[in-house]
Amino acid sequence: MQPTVVELIARKRDGGTLTADEIGRIVRDYVGGTVADYQLSALLMAIFFRGLDDAETVALTEAMLHSGSVLALPAVKGIKVDKHSTGGVGDKVSICLAPLVAACGVPVPMVSGRGLGHTGGTLDKLEAIPGFSTDIPTADFARIVGDVGTCMIGQTAEIAPADKRIYALRDVTATVESIPLIVASILSKKLAEGIDGLVLDVKVGRGAFMKDEARARALATALVRVGTRAGKRVVAVLTRMDCPLGNAIGNSNETREAIDVLFGRGPADLVECTLVLGAEMLVLGGAAATVAEGRDKIAAAIASGAGARVLERMIEAQRGDPRAVADTSLLPRAPRVVDVPSPTAGFLVDIDALELGLTAVAMGAGRTRADQAVDPVVGIELQKKPGDAVAAGEPLAKLLVREDAHAHAVIDRVRAAFRVGAERPTLPPLVLARIDSRDAEGA
Ligand code: URA
Repeated sequence: MQPTVVELIARKRDGGTLTADEIGRIVRDYVGGTVADYQLSALLMAIFFRGLDDAETVALTEAMLHSGSVLALPAVKGIKVDKHSTGGVGDKVSICLAPLVAACGVPVPMVSGRGLGHTGGTLDKLEAIPGFSTDIPTADFARIVGDVGTCMIGQTAEIAPADKRIYALRDVTATVESIPLIVASILSKKLAEGIDGLVLDVKVGRGAFMKDEARARALATALVRVGTRAGKRVVAVLTRMDCPLGNAIGNSNETREAIDVLFGRGPADLVECTLVLGAEMLVLGGAAATVAEGRDKIAAAIASGAGARVLERMIEAQRGDPRAVADTSLLPRAPRVVDVPSPTAGFLVDIDALELGLTAVAMGAGRTRADQAVDPVVGIELQKKPGDAVAAGEPLAKLLVREDAHAHAVIDRVRAAFRVGAERPTLPPLVLARIDSRDAEGA
């Protein structure tokens, strides 16, 4: 006789282990309606306190993955590699990274998300490109990845539907912050893309989902270990997210800044993040023997314009206007731009990414509920980054708005997110750690 769901909840509550079959059955029965919300809620809380070991986390990942369809890309040659970021403010890396990696010969099938809360989403940014569609039938997705090297679409209802339902339950039962539940949630969606390898950008700090480094490291290590046990090549990089990445926060302006990277004129921190993640993707995809070689190849794809050409082809294949790559004035722009002047002279010491992310949402660039629309043109453009000298009255940022009154409503909040001091600060490194499968096994 199989144990009942009540017996399984009790076993986890008491610190026991569930088998892969038992976990698979609970997920199936929950999606099928014979395990109730209150029973799964109790199990989630038991997992929150007792945890899951790696075998249980792999089983949960696979059960959620197979609750829907897994994209098959048999016609796409090569080792397919994607990147996942745990999210931050100004994080537009995917838009320049995927074309660069594809230009170096590694296919990148990418299923991205929309912005929610203070972090933006790649789909909202891409949709600022005139005509661009992220709603592409699965067969076309596979064809575009094969022909162009990359394609970026939104999550469909068929991808890991169990995760969608379980995440909604976690959200209302105070169980989101469990590391094994986060690992299974992220990996189930990523593995549904039909990838062979995955580079994880685990963001750490004020503007990130993980605020402290120890927890971010624990999450990164668990993601690498579980992903590797699920048969994938996985590497994680821990990167700082105390200040926004790059200068643009918004949608259209972030897409423009990602395009700037492809033409060798991107801001230093965004370029560095792209080089670091791209190098790892090329190693996982077999296009580089070492991270140093991968970095050189990504830099060469910027210098030659090969990445920009892949982005043009991808935009064309996804029904957008490819001319927006060479001519970013074709991207929509805010009608009004209002400066945020510095109240004092000195050196910029700090920018609060969380506060600017929340302000951008309040301006209409993001959403607080999944069903809200975003305004592609509004946002914030940083004019100074930590370490820069600033004169009194010089702009710290520009506010991109539809009417001046909208800027005046947020200008004090934006100014307060910048800290100017007398001394030039020592800047912390962008990359805090790199965790591969050997590090993760030893942890
Ligand atoms: N992102 C996800 O996709 N799932 C989580 O559980 C947390 C962050």
